[in-house]
Amino acid sequence: MKKTITTSAPGKLTLYGEHAVVYGYPCIVTAMDSRVRVSVSVVDEDHIDAPQVKRTDFVEEALRLFREKNKIKQSVEIATNSDFSSSVGLGSSSAVIVATIKALGELFAVSLSDKELFDMCYQVVINVKGIGSGFDIAAAVYGGTIYFDGKSKEVELLRLGHLPMVVGYTGNKADTATLVKEVRDRYEKEEKKYKLLLSSMADIVQDAYIASTTGDSEELGVLFNENHALLQKIGVSTDKLDSMVEAAKSAGAYGAKLSGAGGGDCMIALVPDDMRMSVERAIEEVDGKIVRVEPNAQGVRVES
Ligand code: MEV
Repeated sequence: MKKTITTSAPGKLTLYGEHAVVYGYPCIVTAMDSRVRVSVSVVDEDHIDAPQVKRTDFVEEALRLFREKNKIKQSVEIATNSDFSSSVGLGSSSAVIVATIKALGELFAVSLSDKELFDMCYQVVINVKGIGSGFDIAAAVYGGTIYFDGKSKEVELLRLGHLPMVVGYTGNKADTATLVKEVRDRYEKEEKKYKLLLSSMADIVQDAYIASTTGDSEELGVLFNENHALLQKIGVSTDKLDSMVEAAKSAGAYGAKLSGAGGGDCMIALVPDDMRMSVERAIEEVDGKIVRVEPNAQGVRVES
């Protein structure tokens, strides 16, 4: 009988420090409970069936690199399946890379530590996109909520308790690589200003790190607002994101911000439990779609 291994890895929500992390600053990210599943088996000819994955080049490169590093010649069938659309910008590419390499490791009895798994997956991102900080890969590998050092790529698990969060999708897909390049261009033109903005973002990440140790939701919300203001200043927010953020705040959220690269995709709001419904309604009233996900999910795992 054909041996099949199935793994799954979580998507992510960036809480603080997106973009700045590309310049070596830290960020905070949480794994969300929507997952990408990958099944692999040995077959006669390579076959990749990844209908919900926007770019199969990530899966192809994961397979190529894994084979090269482990001198494996057998053909493989890879099938993927996702709880969430690749168009919402919540980390489906990183989740599929991590789940694919984890599954190949299991199939060919190659044991990989979390760090080795991270390094190989991050290499896939760099080989395909040529750019990226790797924090989304770390979220998919380790799960939970993590403080990620953009320079050393080290992670620290944060003990964030109950994080009442509302996530709203703008309806517009953004291209992360384009946004990162646009910020880079502006950074090169106005280095002094951008260095200041990005290092201020790093200060917010440090404050959020401290607030997370006491579980101070109100303070964590205020830091969402400050982080969003800086993301506006580096030019990655949009009118739609701003209107959803404002709607959430007016409806009683502790704070709200865009999450990820900006230019569309999603925003997140930290809310008092009894305000969740009114914040959701306010986001919908400005044409946002609510995405139902919970933070702090488990990292990559073998399903069967
Ligand atoms: C995209 O989700 C987050 C960015 O910081 C890019 C990256 O860190 O690779 C904009």
